[in-house]
Amino acid sequence: MENKETKQKSVLITGTSSGIGLATAEKLAKEGYLVFAGIRKKNDKIKVEKLHKNIRGVYLDVTNQGSIDKAFWYVIKQTDRLDALINNAGAAYAGPLEFMPIESIKEQFNINTFGALAVAQKFMPFLRHGRIINISSMASTGLFPFIAPYCASKRALDILFNSLFIENKDDITVISIKPDVIKTPIWKRAKEIYQKCFENVPESQREKYEKETLMLQKQATDNENKGISVDDVASTVLKALKDKHPKTSYFVGIKSLWAELYSKLPQKIVNSGVRKLLAQRLK
Ligand SMILES: NC(=O)c1ccc[n+]([C@@H]2O[C@H](COP(=O)([O-])OP(=O)(O)OC[C@H]3O[C@@H](n4cnc5c(N)ncnc54)[C@H](OP(=O)(O)O)[C@@H]3O)[C@@H](O)[C@H]2O)c1
Repeated sequence: MENKETKQKSVLITGTSSGIGLATAEKLAKEGYLVFAGIRKKNDKIKVEKLHKNIRGVYLDVTNQGSIDKAFWYVIKQTDRLDALINNAGAAYAGPLEFMPIESIKEQFNINTFGALAVAQKFMPFLRHGRIINISSMASTGLFPFIAPYCASKRALDILFNSLFIENKDDITVISIKPDVIKTPIWKRAKEIYQKCFENVPESQREKYEKETLMLQKQATDNENKGISVDDVASTVLKALKDKHPKTSYFVGIKSLWAELYSKLPQKIVNSGVRKLLAQRLK
């Protein structure tokens, strides 16, 4: 058996090859945490381990139970405590619901929602008195048409984990981090996923959502370039980890807080505002 780290605080973060996960892994490692950094490719293991001596790359595909089981054994061989699980792995599926293949929507939930729950189920017994920190999104408010599968996957994530918090008997705290738009590769990837989904739209129907397609592509490019820095999310995760009395939700960026408040209005008012905004964008 390898040397077990017993005193050092440790965390598992899923999806650390880029973006928020990578920044969070580095931040927490610098703060002295032993970071088990979920990756899926050999090159990414080399990349994350090079960042800091406290980081250990662990192969973890959240949609594959075998991979989750292997990651579990890898982690428990090296430490006898896990202070937190940070469910970060995610993707954004966009497109008009009328044509989006159900299989794609299932994929979206498999990564963002069921994957996170499967990892939590595996690691919970090892996490007594610890924290589960989910990287949810302001999209969990459901205010964003044409990324509805993404919104729904994040809302479902919040609902499932809120119940997990209420139900669990191991004193595990659950925290949802809800970032505004963050500058990460997720947007470039979202454009590729959208392109793939759009190929399913019958030729004769493509005109129907042409404007929306252009709007989505432009929006993704803007987000890629103008979003908030990943450091803001990494710092919020650190705060959520260290706060003596952590909040249930942490908002990153003012738009996220506004979205949350706005979404509490009656649905009719919410829908009317969203439709107006959409119409402006499509002009
Ligand atoms: N960027 C934003 O504006 C924003 C806003 C709010 C919330 N978020 C959330 O923040 C989280 C991180 O996203 P990001 O913006 O940092 O995007 P990103 O740079 O694209 O990172 C996504 C990470 O998830 C990993 N991943 C995807 N599918 C996976 C799977 N099946 N198993 C394990 N790992 C998987 C990716 O790994 P591979 O490289 O191996 O694919 C990558 O490391 C996501 O949950 C996202 O929804 C992002």
